[in-house]
Amino acid sequence: MALPNINPTTTEAWRKLQAHYNDTKNLHMKELFAQDSDRANKFTIKWDDFYVDFSKNRITEETINHLLQLADEVKLKEAIQCQFSGEKINQTEGRAVLHTALRAPKTSAFYVDGVNVIPEVYLVKQKIERFTNDIVNGNRKGYTGKAFTDIVNIGIGGSDLGPAMVVESLQYYKNHLTTHFVSNVDGDHVNEVIKKLNPETTLFVVVSKTFTTQETLSNANTIKAWFLKSASEAEIAKHFVAVSTNIESVKHFGIAEDNIFPMWDWVGGRFSLWSAVGLTISLAVGYNNFNALLSGANKMDEHFKNEDFKSNIPVILALISVWYNNFFKAESEAVIGYSQYLNQFATYLQQGTMESNGKSVDRNSNPINYETGTLIWGEPGTNSQHAFFQLIHQGTKLIPADFIGFAKSLHGNQDHQDKLISNFLAQTEALLNGKTEDDVVSEGTKSEIIPFKIFKGNKPTNTIFINKLSPESLGKLIAMYEHKIFVQGIVWNIFSYDQFGVELGKQLASKILKEFGESNISNHDSSTLNLLNYYNNLR
Ligand code: F6P
Repeated sequence: MALPNINPTTTEAWRKLQAHYNDTKNLHMKELFAQDSDRANKFTIKWDDFYVDFSKNRITEETINHLLQLADEVKLKEAIQCQFSGEKINQTEGRAVLHTALRAPKTSAFYVDGVNVIPEVYLVKQKIERFTNDIVNGNRKGYTGKAFTDIVNIGIGGSDLGPAMVVESLQYYKNHLTTHFVSNVDGDHVNEVIKKLNPETTLFVVVSKTFTTQETLSNANTIKAWFLKSASEAEIAKHFVAVSTNIESVKHFGIAEDNIFPMWDWVGGRFSLWSAVGLTISLAVGYNNFNALLSGANKMDEHFKNEDFKSNIPVILALISVWYNNFFKAESEAVIGYSQYLNQFATYLQQGTMESNGKSVDRNSNPINYETGTLIWGEPGTNSQHAFFQLIHQGTKLIPADFIGFAKSLHGNQDHQDKLISNFLAQTEALLNGKTEDDVVSEGTKSEIIPFKIFKGNKPTNTIFINKLSPESLGKLIAMYEHKIFVQGIVWNIFSYDQFGVELGKQLASKILKEFGESNISNHDSSTLNLLNYYNNLR
């Protein structure tokens, strides 16, 4: 069974949404709140330790009904079934998409080509658990007999962003091991990390699904050469492990077979932190916490799979985002975590969202004439309030924003927590209501300054309020966005699980790399040629 492939703009719901948009585009949310005292309750989903309030959006009950009809007309239910049942929904690469299997219970069954993958998943999980315990407890030691103190994750894209974001988000739960991440092919990146390391006590985790990625192999080779300045070839086995689908190339690199943590082609790079790609997470916070992250994600999977669409968190968030993207023509969405721990969350989501849904050909191979993937950006609150919030409040662009907050602070400083949460709540209220001319006048503002102090308000936000940041709640949050990405891909009728768009630049870079130091270079546009020659003279 293939994914449905319905052009959303041909649906009845789309036509209704267009007419509805024309009728309601100037409605102010303030009026909607004033008209309906139950609005906040109607547009809030309470699930587990999540409180998701989407009432501060430019929507009415009619909007939600039309959006739900759209979900039905593009056959979202069938698409979800296709995904969970292991159909090859990554059609352009001929692969199933089953990151959900990585966090499913041992008793479940997920089939790829008729084979249940769960036993294999659990074998690898067992290997991760044993290895983690050996490193954390100091049973497994480095080549001079000392316990490990540092872990270096060498990978890029999905082999870096997920683990790096989770390790940072869960640093409260961290053990004594210090973790480092090397991703960029920029040699200064790897050298800055190397500066901090002692080869005797450092474990290197080379993460590359394909084991062909230039950045990762360059960094791994540089680190290996540095390591071999103090240790022998035979000692690589004690200090280097790899996560990959490409076992032969890993062995060729010099990593012992026993030190390879396999993954599968049905796990997309940007959805892979739940697999052995998350080994650094497990090492940093311990296997039990890693497992709790997975079970949180599994709870969200169950919610997504089983909940009625009208109270289904990822479905509702995805549909509201389509409403802004395709009807209001909002170009971007901000994601603001009111927790410093979520510092890398938006960066992580950028790959998940933009690599998945930055497509312009539909599932019928036709060029698309409507908007697809949104731009994602953000920084933690309150820092971002003192950076880019001015533009969200008073700029000309419509920027829907997700506000993510945790009711309990981890270190328990209630004074700070109250201040943080007061800002978290105040910002969405300010974005909703704005500030009228009357308000500005009543503050005694000089008349020539009045226009500058008016806030129109009517700026949409979702509030995702979670009891506490824990491995489990973080797992739910990440899975929530993964499913939102999936739903949007279905609505937009695109393939969300390939990423051909990153190939062209790679190909040209390897061509240009060969041209450094050459005198006879042609076959480039004049701008690139000038730049190439400029660099050739300086290098
Ligand atoms: O950026 C393209 C990409 O293929 C991502 O999808 C992936 O996460 C990243 O490169 C790294 O790939 P690999 O894990 O194979 O090194």
